[in-house]
Amino acid sequence: MNSKLPMTDVLIIGAGLAGMSAALSLPPQLRVTLLSKSRFEECASAWAQGGIAAVLDAGDSVAEHVQDTLIAGAGLCDEAAVRQILEQAPAAMAWLQSHGVPFSCNADGSLHLTREGGHGQRRIAHAADRTGHAVHTALLQACQSRSNLTLLENTTALALLQDASDACTGAWLRMADGSEQQLQARHTILATGGMGQIYPYTTNPGTATGDGLAMAWRAGCRLQDLEFMQFHPTALQIDGKAAGLVSEALRGEGALLKLPNGERFMLRHDERAELAPRDIVARAIWAEMAEHGLAYVYLDISHQSRSWLEQHFPGVMALCAAHGIDIASQPIPVAPCAHYACGGIQAGVNGQTEMPQLYAIGEVARTGLHGANRLASNSLLECVVMGRATAQHIAGQPLDSSYELHSNYRNPDKGFSGKSSSNIEQELRQLMLTHVGIVRSNQGLSRAAEQLALWRAQLQDIDAALRNQLDVCTLMVHAALQRQQSVGAHCNTDYPAREMLAA
Ligand code: FAD
Ligand code: SIN
Repeated sequence: MNSKLPMTDVLIIGAGLAGMSAALSLPPQLRVTLLSKSRFEECASAWAQGGIAAVLDAGDSVAEHVQDTLIAGAGLCDEAAVRQILEQAPAAMAWLQSHGVPFSCNADGSLHLTREGGHGQRRIAHAADRTGHAVHTALLQACQSRSNLTLLENTTALALLQDASDACTGAWLRMADGSEQQLQARHTILATGGMGQIYPYTTNPGTATGDGLAMAWRAGCRLQDLEFMQFHPTALQIDGKAAGLVSEALRGEGALLKLPNGERFMLRHDERAELAPRDIVARAIWAEMAEHGLAYVYLDISHQSRSWLEQHFPGVMALCAAHGIDIASQPIPVAPCAHYACGGIQAGVNGQTEMPQLYAIGEVARTGLHGANRLASNSLLECVVMGRATAQHIAGQPLDSSYELHSNYRNPDKGFSGKSSSNIEQELRQLMLTHVGIVRSNQGLSRAAEQLALWRAQLQDIDAALRNQLDVCTLMVHAALQRQQSVGAHCNTDYPAREMLAA
C-alpha cells in the first residue's frame, strides 16, 4: 500500500549520534521525525568503544589536535573544516555531559583522558570502553522525553523526494509493517552512518549498507573520497572471522602487537610503533600476516593488572572471555577489518549539501575532517558538532506557516522491491575484500569494476539494501581507480606509498 504520512518540519534519517544530536538541538516548536532502519541500539554510535577526542587538558592545545588530524589525514584534509570542528570539541563534550553521559573520571573528578593512535597527547574522553553505549543511552532517553520528536524504529528510507526545482522534500519510506509511504518534510537530514557491510569482515552493524550515500547520489548529490575505507587494525579473530572490536585505546595504554613467537614488529614499520596512525598499523599487520602466512597477529596487554583491566576495559575483557581468552594473562588474536568510511556526501560542517533542504551529517557526510585517513575518535566528535551546527542552521531558516509542499515532485527511483540475494551479497563482499581491501592494484580494481557492472546489468529483482551496496561499491571502485597514488587508507601497489618510498 502506498500512502502519505502527515508532513513533518524536519525528517532525520538515522538515529545514531549524529541524528540524535541534531534532533535534540532543534527548537522544540519544530515537529521532528527521527528514523532508525533497525532497532535504535543497532548503530555504530552505540557500539563505539574508545571515546571522543577533545582538547580538555591544560597541557594540550587545539593547534596540536589539528596537527595530529592533518598528519593522520595524509595531506588530504580540509584544514578549515578541521579547525572548525576541533575548536567545537570542548563545547560538544559539555553538551554531552549536560545530557548526563557518565564519562570516566579521575579521583579528583576531572575527566579521565586516554590515548589512541596518531594522537600526540592524552585527549580521548571515554566511558570505560563502552563510550558509545553510554552516549547513546543518555541521548535516546532525552529524545524519548521530547514531545516534538516522533521516533520510528524499523523504518527504512528508500529514496529522497525532490520537487521540480530539485529541492529535497522528504523521503519515501518502508514502514515497520511493510507498507510504503511518503513523508514530506521542509528539511531532510541524512544521518545514515557508514557502509562497512560491503566487506565480509567489519566492525559495523548490519544497518551500515551505505543507504544514505546511494540515495543522495541517485538524487544528484556529489560524493567524495569514497576510496578511503579505513580498516581498523585490531578486530578480535575467532575461527577466521571478526568477532568484535578490540579498542585502539588498549594500544594507547601500552598494549603491544606481536607475532606468534612473541616478537614485536611495529617498530620495523614506523617509529611511532603501535601508536602510528591507523592506516599504517593496519597495513603493517596485513604485511606481517602475508609474510608469515598468518590468519592473525597478537595484541598483548597482559602487563596491566587484572583489576586495572577490569576498570578500564570491561567490554573488551568480557568479549574476549566469551571466546575463552583471558586478556590479563593471554595475548588477543587480532586482524584488520573494515571500519569507517572517510568519504561521503559533500557537506559543510553545518550539514548543507548541494541540494536545497537536504543535509548530511556524521559518517555519511564528507566534510574534509578526515582526509585520506580518520584520526581515531574524531568521528563521534564530528557527529555531535555537525548535528548541533545543522540544527542551528535549520533554526535560522524562516518558518513560513502557510508553507505548502509541492505535490508535483518527481517520482523517485526507489530501487528494486524484490528479495535480497544472499549469494550475491556474499560474492559482492568477497569481491570487495579481494580487490578493494587494504592493498589494491589497478588490475584488481578493474576486475572489480567489470564484475560490478555485470551484476548491475543482470540483477533485476533485488532488495533496496543490496542495490544500495552495488551502487556504493561501484562508486568506491571508480574513485579508487581515479586515485592514481597511494595515500592514507588507499594503497595501490601500482603506485608506491610515500612511506614505502621513504623505506
Ligand atoms: P550510526 O551511529 O551508524 O547511525 C546510523 C543510523 O542510520 C542508524 O540509526 C541506522 O538504523 C540508520 N539508517 C541507516 N540506513 C537507513 C535507512 N535507509 N533508513 C532509515 N534509517 C537508516 N568513533 C569514535 O570517534 N570513537 C570511537 O570510540 C569509535 N568506536 C567505534 C567502534 C565500533 C565498533 C564502530 C563500528 C565504530 C566506531 N567509531 C568510533 C566510529 C563511530 O562510531 C561512527 O563513525 C559514528 O558512530 C557514526 O555515527 P552516525 O550517527 O553517523 O551513524
Ligand atoms: C576504537 O576504540 O579503537 C575505535 C576508535 C575509533 O574508531 O575512532
